[in-house]
Amino acid sequence: MTVKNICCIGAGYVGGPTAAVIAYKCPDIKVTICDINQKRIDAWMSDKLPIYEPGLEEVVFACRGKNLFFSTDVDKHIEEADLIFVSVNTPTKKQGLGAGMAADLAYVEAATRRIANVAKSSKIVVEKSTVPCRTAQSMRTILDANSTDNVKFDILSNPEFLAEGTAIPDLLKPDRVLIGSLQTESGKAAQQALVDVYSHWIPRENIITTNLWSSELSKLAANALLAQRISSINALSAVCEATGADVDEVAYAVGRDTRIGSKFLKASVGFGGSCFQKDILNLVYLSYSLNLPEVAEYWNQVYLMNEYQKKRFVKKIISTLFNTITHKKIAVLGFAFKKDTGDTRESAAITLIKDFMQENAHVAIYDPKVEHEQIYMDLAEPGVVDNRKQVQEKITICKDAYEAAKDADALIIVTEWDEFKSLDYERIYKDMQKPAFLFDGRLILDAPKLREIGFKVHVIGKNALEGRA
Ligand code: NAD
Ligand code: UDX
Repeated sequence: MTVKNICCIGAGYVGGPTAAVIAYKCPDIKVTICDINQKRIDAWMSDKLPIYEPGLEEVVFACRGKNLFFSTDVDKHIEEADLIFVSVNTPTKKQGLGAGMAADLAYVEAATRRIANVAKSSKIVVEKSTVPCRTAQSMRTILDANSTDNVKFDILSNPEFLAEGTAIPDLLKPDRVLIGSLQTESGKAAQQALVDVYSHWIPRENIITTNLWSSELSKLAANALLAQRISSINALSAVCEATGADVDEVAYAVGRDTRIGSKFLKASVGFGGSCFQKDILNLVYLSYSLNLPEVAEYWNQVYLMNEYQKKRFVKKIISTLFNTITHKKIAVLGFAFKKDTGDTRESAAITLIKDFMQENAHVAIYDPKVEHEQIYMDLAEPGVVDNRKQVQEKITICKDAYEAAKDADALIIVTEWDEFKSLDYERIYKDMQKPAFLFDGRLILDAPKLREIGFKVHVIGKNALEGRA
């Protein structure tokens, strides 16, 4: 079985870059990325792509119109393809059973039903979205109900491990690619067909093949373990602040143990992004559903610690500013959930700024990549009349860090953008109210140097303000 024509359903942060890299590395395969969102598809076909990822433009512009296409005609491209990636969103459910925890599988089901309805030849259907363990079973039931002697479906699980901001390098040189299949003859043949696609550029030893359920669970497990490391170091950051230990030194010292390793031990204001919180809650819900409450509560603590870290930072800011920030100007540098992306989903900045607004502070925000409209949308409470107007009265979106910091009482680093490391802090200090407070939620600044300038500095996980404020 040789794959010649791929359709990717879902032109988002995963579907877009993943399918584009496949087209880039496999000139012999036609790849069409489909979405029901016309605006998104138009953007993929324009000069300004709908998502910002370093290196993405080069990949897309190199093969768009040759073997890479974008379309809203999902049915046509399902029908033409021999392999279909389902890369649609699986957000946390907002209402109904499992609300606030379970993954909303409505989009996966809709895409699967579309495939079942329009396919007139056999297809390999690949679950690319992150889903609870055994979702492939539901997809199978829907597809089997529509299969005939001439139309057969094989289902694979091929979760995506890319991180935003490094999606292109992650896709070009992944630590591993994981492909799960049913252990039947036809399942294994389908698995081999996808292995052959990735083998165009990935060494065979980096392509792991497992059964379907291991593959599905491995994705949730990987995100849970990564998030757990961040919550662990953040829990320790609170101990550091109370004892005089320095969390960077602790992370370095423990990370030198090769059994622990140094990555994902950077203390912060809390993890954000579209995956960690969603996938942990997904695992928590799965564990409860499997009648494993102790397991569920264990993983839930990773999420709760992240919430605690954000609240702890806000409390520290308010208490340092003499227990009130009412009518004070708070400058927030960074709104994206991490550097090198314009994505704001679950960004710690949203929680922090909403809390500052609640305290009637005026918040000046600067982020080099996030669209202004996105900031207004994230800060408005859905369904509250006139809320957007209230948001606009309480925040100003600035053109640079200097404008945000002018006359501010406090400057807060929320996203670790590189440009924040090399700002002219002498100039910022002169322009701020005195005392000029600076809170580093990302541990990226040279605190001793800033103190020499005159700033009152607090860094997460460092006992910074002792005897100084
Ligand atoms: P996204 O919201 O950016 O994109 C999903 C796209 O699917 C949207 O454009 C939506 O319009 C489209 N869509 C939904 N239903 C459709 C349908 N029936 N037909 C056609 N198009 C449809 O989401 P994303 O960030 O790309 O995530 C996709 C999946 O990948 C999720 O399950 C997520 O958990 C997982 N994942 C995300 C990341 C990440 O960094 N964002 C990393 C690994 C895995
Ligand atoms: C994550 C996983 O890394 C990726 O493998 C998966 O496919 C999707 O989810 P992503 O959310 O894009 O990727 O970014 P990631 O780099 O993991 O960062 C997530 C959050 O954790 C960010 O807010 C980041 O700032 C924070 N983080 C990360 C820390 O606070 N400390 C760290 O040491 C690492």
